[in-house]
Amino acid sequence: MADLDDIREGNKFGIGIEQKNPSFHIKGTGNLLWGAKDRMTRIFNPQTARTVMLAFDHGFIMGPTSGLERIDLTIVPLMEYADCLMCARGILQSSVPANINKPICLRSDAGTTILTELNDNVLIDIEDAIRMNVSAMAIMLAIGDPTMEARTIANLCKMVDLGTKYGIPVMGVTAVGKDMVRDARYFGMASRVCAENGANIVKTYYCEGFENVVAACPVPIVIAGGKKLPEKEALELCYMAINDGAAGVDMGRNVFQSEDPVAMIQAVSSVVHQNYTVDQAFELFEELKQE
Ligand code: 5RP
Repeated sequence: MADLDDIREGNKFGIGIEQKNPSFHIKGTGNLLWGAKDRMTRIFNPQTARTVMLAFDHGFIMGPTSGLERIDLTIVPLMEYADCLMCARGILQSSVPANINKPICLRSDAGTTILTELNDNVLIDIEDAIRMNVSAMAIMLAIGDPTMEARTIANLCKMVDLGTKYGIPVMGVTAVGKDMVRDARYFGMASRVCAENGANIVKTYYCEGFENVVAACPVPIVIAGGKKLPEKEALELCYMAINDGAAGVDMGRNVFQSEDPVAMIQAVSSVVHQNYTVDQAFELFEELKQE
């Protein structure tokens, strides 16, 4: 109990001054409760409302792919430049320093490796996500896949129910099936389906007409980088996505498979948070590479 001596009466009530009702900086999330908003704010920088998420969850489906052989050697040095880390729980617990103080977007579904057909039938336990203090849970959706669409939408709905209960936002990740056309109509629909089913963030791919995908999605969209591109092209991809309204990137291979991943993540961040042009960002990349 506080010391009872010298308790002073309050006298600064600001009579006549309307109480400030804080607005919220992230698209489509103004009606979330405080805990979920706090987690979203840890992911999306309050100054820019954007994020650089570093995705290194690839191993859960493809094993030790190039750049992810040793998380301690290749990924840990990048973490300070990321706004959020996206990984699976085994890597989080074994390889991400617990004092890194970065929000985690936890890969929360599983069930497949690249050796078999897509089969996403495992969801992690919400209690484990809470124990790991994650800031968001990522769930993949296979929209248009005849065997997996219903199951993956059910997965999203289940995680949204659980996430809502405990204030943990859910990110819907749109998968690209082998036979899917990668255009704005498809990504626009897949993104909207994620949001309609309660996803608080959508991860999808950049495409021509991307401004329509973003406009019709009521929550923030972050883009995946996809396969490794030359650095300047990857920066151009980021630039075009941000220019069309994306709230950031959730990028993996184009960062950790870069010839200089530490320089590349900073160059990506300069596009996302500082509105650098492609040329400025590439120049920064070249400069940082020399250091
Ligand atoms: C796919 C994912 C991966 O983490 C992500 O797409 C990979 O990122 P990148 O394409 O930038 O390497 O969520 O389900």
